[in-house]
Amino acid sequence: MTAIRTPVVSVLLDPDWASGSLVEDVRRGLASHPRTLPPKWLYDDRGSDLFTEITHLVEYYPTESERALIGAHAEEIVTITGADTVVELGSGTSDKTRTLLDAFDRAGALQRFVPVDVSEATLRTAADDLSVRYPGLQVEAIVGDFTLHLGHLPTGGRKIVAFLGGTIGNLYVEERAAFLGALADSLEVGDWLLLGTDLVKSSDRLIAAYNDARGITADFVLNSLHVVNRELGADFDVDAFSYVPFWDPHMERMDLRVRAEMPQRVTIPGADVVLDLASGEEIRVEISTKFRPDGLRTELAAAGFAVDHLWSDGDFALTLARRTA
Ligand code: SAH
Ligand code: TRP
Repeated sequence: MTAIRTPVVSVLLDPDWASGSLVEDVRRGLASHPRTLPPKWLYDDRGSDLFTEITHLVEYYPTESERALIGAHAEEIVTITGADTVVELGSGTSDKTRTLLDAFDRAGALQRFVPVDVSEATLRTAADDLSVRYPGLQVEAIVGDFTLHLGHLPTGGRKIVAFLGGTIGNLYVEERAAFLGALADSLEVGDWLLLGTDLVKSSDRLIAAYNDARGITADFVLNSLHVVNRELGADFDVDAFSYVPFWDPHMERMDLRVRAEMPQRVTIPGADVVLDLASGEEIRVEISTKFRPDGLRTELAAAGFAVDHLWSDGDFALTLARRTA
């Protein structure tokens, strides 16, 4: 019997990451047009739990599409990459990743798993579960921000970096380029990226995926106002806001906002901001960009990744790309 190896958890976020380093973002975001809030605040403990509920919704097709694509191609991914280290960015519960880890495990190829997430509680639970599921596997979890901490990824061995769930679509185009460039810099030539991206499709299906009948998605997005209240001592009257998701056909992205249903003055002491919102005024909380295969290839190539395979069911794409010289 192989002994279970205790996960190693490195915390790279400052203790005041949520409140301290985001104050500038909040000031700038709330002063811009449209007003915006930093999306990192979606994933406090309650937000992470609500996101897990979203992944179980019938309307939210990306999770099951991506799970099926991973299931259908896991063996191939193991053979093609020959990786011994799996890194996962924005790993959350690492639920779908288990299908991939199972395939690596069956091949006897798996040595190290490095999940990276800002949500510490979710990450610690996942790390513990995975250590039990794969005795002999060294889990080296990183509580960190994938836009800041890619320089801390482990070195040595052959790596595959999984970035699933369409999370890359939550970055703005210039952030995406910076992220992919930093990721390429942190990898060695011959390392691999496994990228999950949602694809452009009819606005009806997209809007349903981001506006489920039970209102879980609305709770998830509105929860970010509770986080600002808690972290910065703000007094958003959350019940006076509604959730408004819409499709932006020009940018090809979902634009996910909250709207003040009555005029209100919001005081945010931690950011030294007083905000007067008119009735109907909106604040963007997140974008979710949808992709086209050709655009993906071009963006990846610009960052130093050559697409080896792009698997798709027409709704979602799973791309395996190699860090080139
Ligand atoms: N990969 C999972 C979860 C996707 S939700 C899936 O496919 O279902 C996005 C995840 O990324 C959340 O767990 C959130 O906490 C994490 N996250 C969001 N922004 C992040 C950042 N800047 N750095 C690290 N993790 C982040
Ligand atoms: N990465 C997920 C996506 O873009 C995150 C997400 C799912 C999300 N549902 C949401 C973000 C609703 C904001 C609002 O699909």
